[in-house]
Amino acid sequence: MAILKRRVPMLNPIFLSLAITLSLFVAISSAGVIFEENFEDGWENRWVKSDWKKDEKMAGEWNYTSGKWSGNTNDKGIQTSEDHRFYAISAEFPEFSNKDKTLVFQFSVKHEQKLDCGGGYMKLLSGELDQKKFGGDSSYSIMFGPDICGYSTKKVHAILTYNGTNHLIKKEVPCETDQLTHVYTFILRPDATYSILVDNVEKQSGSLYSDWDLLPPKKIKDPEAKKPEDWDDKEYIPDPEDKKPEGYDDIPKEIPDPDAKKPEDWDDEEDGEWTAPTIPNPEYKGPWKPKKIKNPNYKGKWKAPMIDNPDFKDDPDLYVYPNLKYVGVELWQVKSGTLFDNVLVCDDPEYAKQLAEETWGKQKDAEKAAFDEAEKKREEEESKDDPVDSDAEDGEDDADDAEDNETDDDSKADSIEHEAASVDDDVHDEL
Ligand SMILES: *[C@@H]1O[C@H](CO)[C@@H](O)[C@H](O)[C@H]1NC(C)=O
Ligand SMILES: *[C@@H]1O[C@H](CO)[C@@H](O)[C@H](O)[C@H]1NC(C)=O
Ligand SMILES: *[C@@H]1O[C@H](CO)[C@@H](O)[C@H](O)[C@H]1NC(C)=O
Repeated sequence: MAILKRRVPMLNPIFLSLAITLSLFVAISSAGVIFEENFEDGWENRWVKSDWKKDEKMAGEWNYTSGKWSGNTNDKGIQTSEDHRFYAISAEFPEFSNKDKTLVFQFSVKHEQKLDCGGGYMKLLSGELDQKKFGGDSSYSIMFGPDICGYSTKKVHAILTYNGTNHLIKKEVPCETDQLTHVYTFILRPDATYSILVDNVEKQSGSLYSDWDLLPPKKIKDPEAKKPEDWDDKEYIPDPEDKKPEGYDDIPKEIPDPDAKKPEDWDDEEDGEWTAPTIPNPEYKGPWKPKKIKNPNYKGKWKAPMIDNPDFKDDPDLYVYPNLKYVGVELWQVKSGTLFDNVLVCDDPEYAKQLAEETWGKQKDAEKAAFDEAEKKREEEESKDDPVDSDAEDGEDDADDAEDNETDDDSKADSIEHEAASVDDDVHDEL
């Protein structure tokens, strides 16, 4: 739209009114779409593959495909196709500021490779970028999308760059971990609130002020405040009324085993005088301690009062990225097979929702059916070459690996359950 306005010549009134009508039409019909990529014909003219890591032969190739299973084989995206490679690709759009506007960043991602460690996130970048050099060091404005590594990391990243520093979201946002397509949406509003959606369902929401450390905190604990001398923060105290019972200290820790008998063949002269072995005394309760009672003077835990943080300066433009201009993928993948599609940058959450419904929503059932079919085939293949022969081909080795890993997963899950159970036991013991 900015381009259209600049192009309007101020000479011919007829042409001017025509141009205004035209630009109005464009404004309505495009519904504030800044960038939309469905990876149809011509996508390669819009995207620039970076030369990053090419010299080291570590730059991975993208495969233009709908993948091994999909809801529509004509609907293609771009998929990482080589293991242990870096990937960097980006597209440019007319510079855009989200001031006073909602920013929506959305794309779909499918990890066909049963991802055990790797990212599926995208980035929005601002200012000038040499797209041929786009890489891990290129500074970005927003990084958003799923990230998986082992058991501990299965989350949606939402990293915001503010004043030259990257800030991770402080809340946990779980991501999808299966091998199907999912849509990730980040919405940033002019009131500095945000939402994160997965498959059009809100998974997290809140405020830029509370969920990232972009600014210093508004309130801090008064550093001058001190706990008053007479503040009693002991909740329980020894009962001053409780007295040690008479003879408590005379109870021995161990006693001769009353059930022990002198062996038949014991010879007092040779073996010495027989004494019974000792056992722990069930009467012995350890050193005496007075009972604990609630402290009548208990005032609760002392907390410093909160005061306005002198270092806090509000920034009403906290949510603003004044010159967004590129969208890109920059990843390291141990195992390739991540497929991106339907990349959208716009200002209308409703439009994004509809696009997700028309793409992922319409295809997801067929995709699941295609996936189930592919899995069935794979399992049949595997059972056909059941490992009678240990000098199996490469492909069969991989299949064995997958089985091994699954067994490991099961035993890990079991041990986690066991740990949880034993924690329960401990709690019960204490009660
Ligand atoms: C691209 O993807 C298709 C479909 O999954 C696959 O058959 C083909 O081998 C892939 N090509 C490369 C170069 O990975
Ligand atoms: C921005 O960063 C600089 C240097 O790190 C710092 O001095 C300044 O206080 C920061 N400004 C804001 C608004 O956070
Ligand atoms: C199984 O685990 C090994 C080692 O962690 C890994 O190299 C291999 O790719 C995994 N196989 C599958 C099918 O996940």
